[in-house]
Amino acid sequence: MDILEVIKTRRSIRKYKPDSINEQEIDKILEAGRWAPSADNSQPCKFIVLRDPERRKRLADILTWGKFLSKAALGIAVTINPKASECPVQDGAAATQNMLLEAHSLGLGACWIGTYDSGEEASARKMLNIPEGERLLSVIAIGHPAENPQGMRKGLAELTFIDEYGKR
Ligand SMILES: Cc1cc2nc3c(=O)[nH]c(=O)nc-3n(C[C@H](O)[C@H](O)[C@H](O)COP(=O)(O)O)c2cc1C
Repeated sequence: MDILEVIKTRRSIRKYKPDSINEQEIDKILEAGRWAPSADNSQPCKFIVLRDPERRKRLADILTWGKFLSKAALGIAVTINPKASECPVQDGAAATQNMLLEAHSLGLGACWIGTYDSGEEASARKMLNIPEGERLLSVIAIGHPAENPQGMRKGLAELTFIDEYGKR
């Protein structure tokens, strides 16, 4: 698939078959995260590969909008060090998106899970032993897709201006 095809056909997948993900696939997904751009090449992210199903289940219990992580074959938690970069959130988002796209290009299904209040993030950080000062930016649930949801996006005409905001 050409890169635009990968970008356009990727969907958030929240239902998975029970099949596992092999080491080569895991390595490729992590490589995609590693090669993401970051502000001043600061590379403030770490990736926690969640192999243990029991730990994924415990994390799913904490994540309000990520209960499906318990049924995924794998999880990857992306942490950022805010002291290491001028733009840690953007850096973590770029790494997360790269990994979502690589998972899709391998025929896997993945979904970005966020933390939506500081209590939730604190519980997840504690459970994953994330050190003080580091933040949990995202958790990616990955598995073999068992659903095929439709995508929806605004049209380019609605999103695009020429030369200045508001000028079409
Ligand atoms: C920052 C961010 C946080 C997200 N958090 C969640 C989440 O907690 N749970 C979830 O099911 N989906 C989450 N998503 C996935 C979005 O709901 C999804 O990308 C959006 O609905 C568009 O659907 P698509 O990815 O299939 O194109 C998140 C996406 C982003 C970019």
